[in-house]
Amino acid sequence: MKVAFVGKGGSGKTTLSALFCRSLALQTQPVMAFDADINQHLGLTLGLSSADAALIPPLGLEMDRIKDYLRGQNPRIRSTASMVKTTPPGQGSRLLRVTEDNPIYHYFSCQVNDIRLMVTGPLSQEDLGLKCYHSKVGAVELILNHLLDEPGEYVVVDMTAGADSFASGMFTKFDLTFVVVEPTLKSLSVYQQYQHYARDYQVPIAVIGNKIVTEDDLTFLRQQVGDALIGWITQSEYVRSLERGVFLPLHHLEAPNLETLRSMQHAVDRCEKDWEQFYQHTIAFHRKNAHAWANAATGEDLTEQIDPDYQFTDHLPRQAFPVS
Ligand SMILES: Nc1ncnc2c1ncn2[C@@H]1O[C@H](COP(=O)(O)OP(=O)(O)OP(=O)(O)O)[C@@H](O)[C@H]1O
Ligand SMILES: [Mg+2]
Repeated sequence: MKVAFVGKGGSGKTTLSALFCRSLALQTQPVMAFDADINQHLGLTLGLSSADAALIPPLGLEMDRIKDYLRGQNPRIRSTASMVKTTPPGQGSRLLRVTEDNPIYHYFSCQVNDIRLMVTGPLSQEDLGLKCYHSKVGAVELILNHLLDEPGEYVVVDMTAGADSFASGMFTKFDLTFVVVEPTLKSLSVYQQYQHYARDYQVPIAVIGNKIVTEDDLTFLRQQVGDALIGWITQSEYVRSLERGVFLPLHHLEAPNLETLRSMQHAVDRCEKDWEQFYQHTIAFHRKNAHAWANAATGEDLTEQIDPDYQFTDHLPRQAFPVS
């Protein structure tokens, strides 16, 4: 299952992504985490030292390595340079599975407390003023487009703050998107924007309240978002001590917060995968990008990369289909 954490800057996306991943990993579920935020803190929040976090090769710096692997023998992708972040898989492409070993995971991932972590990397000095962060996040988009996750496997993406996450088609890739909302009007405004985009693309979203202190905080959130609020994390001493570098086992987290992590997992498990829609979104965003910039950038008509005979769903593992 693919899960995103979005929300206003500072709302708690990274904190909740990390707690959620740890809660899944504790139950020995396969978990893969992507830090796709410009502020790269997920590794630290998962328990890596800054020295170890700095050793993870950023996906965004070596896109060609990813493209080379994923395009495999796909004849519609003429060269590495003509593969862009939205290029969909077709006949001959390589697809990824969560629990396999492959050269991409081998090179880019780091295992932290049973979580396979990959990072996009920060904007480098050379990028400033030249590149936007979306080109780096494109690495994650490419991987997600080729990733066949099964029920009981979790792929968690810590996204960029605010409405920036709509800048690419990546926001359509998730079975469930958690919008982390503090009980403030500013935090809610990001939720409202998200709601609007999500509706247009049939993206399932659920609100998680964060830094809840009083009953009034909850009443406020309930009034504003109604049933979309599926749980909340309180202002937490455990999280505050994490910030001071005290990394305690997860069972030290306050009991109601542990309970919320469980209900978040149940919410994800209840989602019905729609692989057909997933693939159709991939194609639609590829067409859009081809016309907007990618054809001009590569000098090719990249819509020809869309393989009309490719049956993406034929490649799914049998378990990926809900048992009816
Ligand atoms: N439930 C909580 N209790 C106490 N502190 C919290 C809680 N959630 C988050 N924080 C603190 O709030 C700050 C912001 O949290 P975090 O970095 O997770 O937010 P973010 O949305 O990822 O921010 P950014 O937009 O910068 O990536 C951190 O100092 C974090 O420790
Ligand atoms: Mg963050």
